[in-house]
Amino acid sequence: MQQKIIILDFGSQTTQLIGRRVRELDTFCEILPYNKFPVGDKSVIGVILSGSPFSVHDPEAFKVDLSQFVGHIPVLGICYGAQFISYAGGGKVEKADSREYGRANLCEFDVDNPLFKSFDRNSQVWMSHGDTITAIPEGFKCIASTANVKYAAYASLTQPVWAVQFHPEVFHTTQGTQLLKNFVVDICHSKQDWSAASFVDTTVAELKAQVGEDRVILGLSGGVDSSVAAVLLNRAIGKNLTCIFVDHGMLRKNEFRDVMHDYECLGLNVIGVDASEKFFADLAGVSDPEQKRKIIGRDFIEVFNAEAKKIKDAKWLAQGTIYPDRIESLNITGKVIKSHHNVGGLPKEMHLSLCEPLKWLFKDEVRRVGRQLGMPEHLITRHPFPGPGLAVRILGDITPEKVRILQDADDIYIRGLREYKVKLSGEEARRVLAAGVPANMKDGEIEVSLYDQIWQACTILLSTVRSVGVMGDERTYEHPVALRAVTSTDAMTADWAHLPYDFMAKVSNEIINKVRGVNRVCYDISSKPPSTIEWE
Ligand code: XMP
Repeated sequence: MQQKIIILDFGSQTTQLIGRRVRELDTFCEILPYNKFPVGDKSVIGVILSGSPFSVHDPEAFKVDLSQFVGHIPVLGICYGAQFISYAGGGKVEKADSREYGRANLCEFDVDNPLFKSFDRNSQVWMSHGDTITAIPEGFKCIASTANVKYAAYASLTQPVWAVQFHPEVFHTTQGTQLLKNFVVDICHSKQDWSAASFVDTTVAELKAQVGEDRVILGLSGGVDSSVAAVLLNRAIGKNLTCIFVDHGMLRKNEFRDVMHDYECLGLNVIGVDASEKFFADLAGVSDPEQKRKIIGRDFIEVFNAEAKKIKDAKWLAQGTIYPDRIESLNITGKVIKSHHNVGGLPKEMHLSLCEPLKWLFKDEVRRVGRQLGMPEHLITRHPFPGPGLAVRILGDITPEKVRILQDADDIYIRGLREYKVKLSGEEARRVLAAGVPANMKDGEIEVSLYDQIWQACTILLSTVRSVGVMGDERTYEHPVALRAVTSTDAMTADWAHLPYDFMAKVSNEIINKVRGVNRVCYDISSKPPSTIEWE
């Protein structure tokens, strides 16, 4: 039986991060809404209660019946989780005089408590709360304090219950991973047997059992998720997997050709469909972003279905859905937001069952699995790319010529990002390594490309705008392109990346000199929210 830690989600923005940290400890975990604890599930070895945007005193605050697990298995409350355990047990939680936010140091802690094994004196932690615990319940003792927060951590004297008001899951808590390790490994006795290698072995065996001799269809996009799903299935069922890769004509420069080549080298049975003419014809004269998306979505399903129907005896549709797509995250109104899968379009008469081999993995784990499967690094570290492709990066209507201009400019930008190396240290280096980028730490530094340092980069053709320029003795009246690069962990929020000026100068120069139709380059310095990553 696969051991697991349950993380009960009270709506904090960092809940998924707790999950990723636990997985980094080679331990399987599931994130569930606060009120969905799986009572009776013997594979659960520990429970973590997340933070929350609520105060325990808010009438609409999320509350849980602690008796479902307290006393049965180890419990760790984080931030709101810690305050809720105190509040529910008869302790006191009050509004803090001032919001406790930012870095603090554990000036005192119980060195003998297993939660603080290997902790340094004055270890840095990250606080982020408006309420604070002013009294803990009877039967508990304080186990750590900062200069301003007396009950930075407390624990039960009789039961395996720990609570911390700081956030061990964020990078600014320097020994946060150690604390989670102390809880997950020492206290909950995780066997730490969840790894890319074990995942591949068990999933291949499960896929063989699930699918047997049936035929499976999978839609490839060139992205990491569908590619890893395909290679995993290929290992399990070989030629019974048929992949379909549709070229809508709005991929990056040479991407269809290059990715098809990669897929063939990986031994995949893949049908490449060049449907670009159909897409361009149907998009002609359409400028509205939503209209463009609808047409592309509709055409994509049409082309994909026509190919899928040719595979007569197919029984399964495989998808690269990953865990964050399925987590029911709670928003502040208490409504459950379910993410949508893009399965809707397949004809019912095909009676296909869904197969989602990556449905338990976070993005960085998908990359590790890809490496375990021996896939090439450029396929694994590829930035996310939207389904409608460059169509949502061309403002205004779409023509093959505009796509050509954008592809050429974008190719210079992306190649430049791959070639430019930067040295990173400290938190920045740890963030990049945690995202699964392969780099060796030497003297506290790693060297990575700008491409690997950022989450996603794109070029946008502002084809509805023209501006005057001068080239040689000639006046030009052409379009600008905008370059965008963002850092992010999940695309829900994003910051614009502070790219080096010498890099921007070089790329801008090369684009204006080499790409016919562009005479100006801008850099997008908007974060998300309030902007989005894509322009349309
Ligand atoms: P936004 O623009 O909403 O994008 O900040 C967030 C992330 O989603 C990607 N994206 C898409 N991916 N189909 C996709 O498969 C789409 O229609 C789509 N629109 C945006 C975007 O590239 C970013 O990673």
